[in-house]
Amino acid sequence: MRLTAGLLLVIVISLVHPVTARGLQATQADVQRTVWDGVYTEAQAERGGVQYTESCAGCHAPDLRGNTTSPSLVGLSFAFLWGERTLGELFGRIQELMPTNRPGSLSAQTYRDILAFILRSNSYPTGEQELESDRIDQILITAEPDPQQ
Ligand code: HEC
Repeated sequence: MRLTAGLLLVIVISLVHPVTARGLQATQADVQRTVWDGVYTEAQAERGGVQYTESCAGCHAPDLRGNTTSPSLVGLSFAFLWGERTLGELFGRIQELMPTNRPGSLSAQTYRDILAFILRSNSYPTGEQELESDRIDQILITAEPDPQQ
């Protein structure tokens, strides 16, 4: 009886395992998407720009270069700080902490639009599809495009 159960377990594991392996590969492929793949639209960045002026520019400056207390959201310092992290992480931080005087006060859509504006300000390319919540965790921020592409 015990032997049969053990055998059954082995069979079940060997059946399930290849599926798990495939699932893992798919996840890794998703993670390899980067901000260089056109992950937001021009219209979205345009909307985000209006929101940025309203809610962020007071501290981070109209040109996003910040001031003595608020960090720059563009250029090398941005790429250095956020490189190899995902857009989802950046989104989470902004939603959780910004604007400092009323964190989390904007809608998720507005935070995404502002993120699109920040991406455009960093000269990352626009694309056909807006930045949505479903894939945001899989998009990697990198300073340079993937040399293999
Ligand atoms: C009242 C001033 C103020 C406003 C308004 C403001 N910020 Fe900030 N922001 C700061 C300061 C100060 C810091 C650095 C300290 C910190 O991280 O809390 C910062 C940090 C950040 C960071 C880096 C966070 C990190 O984890 O390193 C990002 C990104 C950011 N702000 C984006 C935004 C966006 C987007 C908006 C508009 C929705 C915004 N901020 C509005 C003052 C402000």
